[in-house]
Amino acid sequence: MRLGIFGAGYVGLVTSVCFAELGHTVVAADKDREVVARLADGVPTLYEPGLENVLRANLRAGRLTFTTSTTEALQRGEIVFLCVGTPGRADGRADLSQIDEVVRSIAPMLNGYTLLVEKSTVPVDTASCIIRALRRLTGARNGYEVASNPEFLREGSAIEDFMHPDRIVIGADSPRAQALLLDLYRRDFACPILLTDIKNAELIKHAANAFLATKISFINMVADLCERVGADISIVAQGIGLDHRIGPHFLQAGLGFGGSCFPKDLKALVRIAEDLGVDFGLLREVERINEARAARLIKTLNEALWVLRHKTVGVLGVAFKSNTDDIRNAPSLHVIPQLREQGVLLRIYDPQAAFKIATQFPAEAGLQYVPSAYEAAKGAHALLILTDWDEFRSLDWRQLRSLMRTPVIIDGRNLFDPAAMHARGFEYYSFGRKHTQEPPDADMPERAEPAHGFHTAASRIDPLPTVAGGEDD
Ligand code: UDX
Repeated sequence: MRLGIFGAGYVGLVTSVCFAELGHTVVAADKDREVVARLADGVPTLYEPGLENVLRANLRAGRLTFTTSTTEALQRGEIVFLCVGTPGRADGRADLSQIDEVVRSIAPMLNGYTLLVEKSTVPVDTASCIIRALRRLTGARNGYEVASNPEFLREGSAIEDFMHPDRIVIGADSPRAQALLLDLYRRDFACPILLTDIKNAELIKHAANAFLATKISFINMVADLCERVGADISIVAQGIGLDHRIGPHFLQAGLGFGGSCFPKDLKALVRIAEDLGVDFGLLREVERINEARAARLIKTLNEALWVLRHKTVGVLGVAFKSNTDDIRNAPSLHVIPQLREQGVLLRIYDPQAAFKIATQFPAEAGLQYVPSAYEAAKGAHALLILTDWDEFRSLDWRQLRSLMRTPVIIDGRNLFDPAAMHARGFEYYSFGRKHTQEPPDADMPERAEPAHGFHTAASRIDPLPTVAGGEDD
């Protein structure tokens, strides 16, 4: 099929390259000349595993074009996807000015049948507003339709998520629009395709993100309980997640959620509900819990180091999650300035996102960007782990420990087994699990820990599989 894509940001770019990879002819339009020039040259504008290869292969194959002309994308597409940004406004509501701009720019050029599909996250009922605007601008009731086909991809695994989704949601109010979108997807995707009306589809996206965020804040509160009573959140989460009604995912406790979607979508849904006369206070609480996580980490650091002023702290990871260079709403944005205010000297390392964070917090005498985790550890009184990068799981702990002034680790992502870190000679603090403060005592006989695992018919304990990540050595 011939597809037009408006917006070559995260969603638009991934959607463009993936549809091209599936054999469709894609014209992607973005008003940013520099972005278009870079992408047309095969240079990705953001870090995403696998993106560069797919981008280059499809440019070479001639299936993918980038342009600054919305007319070109509109006229060459049988279906046109709206993938422009819908950032949050100061009051929490979604800023739909980029959608409005696209609608106004294409209205004079609509000619024949065009299906405009919302792919960016938009408040429920946005399609009705687009239709009303088009009616006013064109004077016509026909010749165009609007549908909703929300994208659920995650940064860091966006290509994989696009190609292998759990489900595809098509919201369309006419058989013609439904058939067009079904034709687009049916051939290549084996997952369930939910056909519904536009309002349901719009709401599904916001509700899905809000629910996932709720799971994270919920488990983080249970983690706080675990910490108070000496229980272990990874095992409690596993026990909860084995109930198929709950499921094992999104129960990873720690620093909480960041990124371009969850924080913004939560705020937007609270506002949408409010505007509709529904008090969705639950989501305000989810937000409040999440916003307190960074402060908790700093409090733990404070307790571990006693006085923070003039201490050196290595920071491992600043991206909001692994496999991305995105720092939007990342906990590091709170942790870094708060520690600097308290006079802490920071040595920061991130495999991809250091460049972006340096634009917010430029290097200075008390804040250095270093090229490896080992450099971050040099002379440090403590190491903070803020992002779950895989490379942190297989560090040489002996070397790292020898570089540090005091072997203290505050792990905001619960990447390691506290007992193993203790055995490696670290004071190890994480979320919702026992802190191991005293260095191991060589003279003390080993105390048998109770077993945690699945009891099998053979009466042995099979170790629990790790929920997310785990030990590499
Ligand atoms: C999310 C949704 O998952 C995706 O469907 C939607 O399209 C966009 O928003 P994304 O923000 O890229 O995707 O990342 P995701 O993997 O969902 O993680 C979001 C945040 O939650 C990250 O900061 C992550 O570290 C955190 N998280 C995730 C937890 O703290 N615990 C978990 O168990 C899972």
